[in-house]
Amino acid sequence: DRSIKIAPSILSADFANFGKEIQSVEAQGADWIHVDVMDGHFVPNLTFGPPLCAAIRPHIKTVMDVHLMIAPVDPYIQAFADAGADILTAHLESGPHVHRTLQAIRAAGCKAGLALNPGTGLEDLPYLLDMIDLVCVMTVNPGFGGQKFIHSQIDKVKRLREMIGDRPIHIEIDGGITPETAPLMTAAGADVLVAGSAVFKGGSVENPAPYGANIRAI
Ligand code: DX5
Ligand code: ZN
Repeated sequence: DRSIKIAPSILSADFANFGKEIQSVEAQGADWIHVDVMDGHFVPNLTFGPPLCAAIRPHIKTVMDVHLMIAPVDPYIQAFADAGADILTAHLESGPHVHRTLQAIRAAGCKAGLALNPGTGLEDLPYLLDMIDLVCVMTVNPGFGGQKFIHSQIDKVKRLREMIGDRPIHIEIDGGITPETAPLMTAAGADVLVAGSAVFKGGSVENPAPYGANIRAI
């Protein structure tokens, strides 16, 4: 389905060659580039911060979709906006003032995303829907690529799709997306699929063709 966007996560790319990897996946059909920022505190893993985002920005022709798995978030919003993020997604679980965080993201000139861990419900969403451009439903516990898809989230996505109605809000799915799980999520109402291991597997900087085949298979 051409209306479904695929957002490869560079968490599964060759870290020594981000520029080339981004150019390759975009040439092979990626719609957005998903950047996983982890702080070793909100999630048990460390990745990268604003300077890396600024360094890769010139290599991204599409959308730079930055997923902030950090707490606190607010002190870093301006730095990620300055680094060139188009979308900044913060977690509902990252602090007590998510409403303020979403205000700050839009004030910094970015589209605002709200991510939900697998154990988080939709109860708070009605009070936040007018502040967000994207909801990211995590289908793994955040922190690592290559984990197994959590099927209980299918029902959450269906209920989220009903709640959103015809508002212009993306439903993005992140974690464990494969050619097997992707159709479950698009049928449930998702329109953006993040995929790390399923996009980058079998390819390399020297041999990027598998990225295209992998994207088309999702
Ligand atoms: C997980 C990250 C995901 C991850 C997806 O914490 O937010 O974006 O890289 O990787 P796969 O597709 O391998 O599950
Ligand atoms: Zn992510």
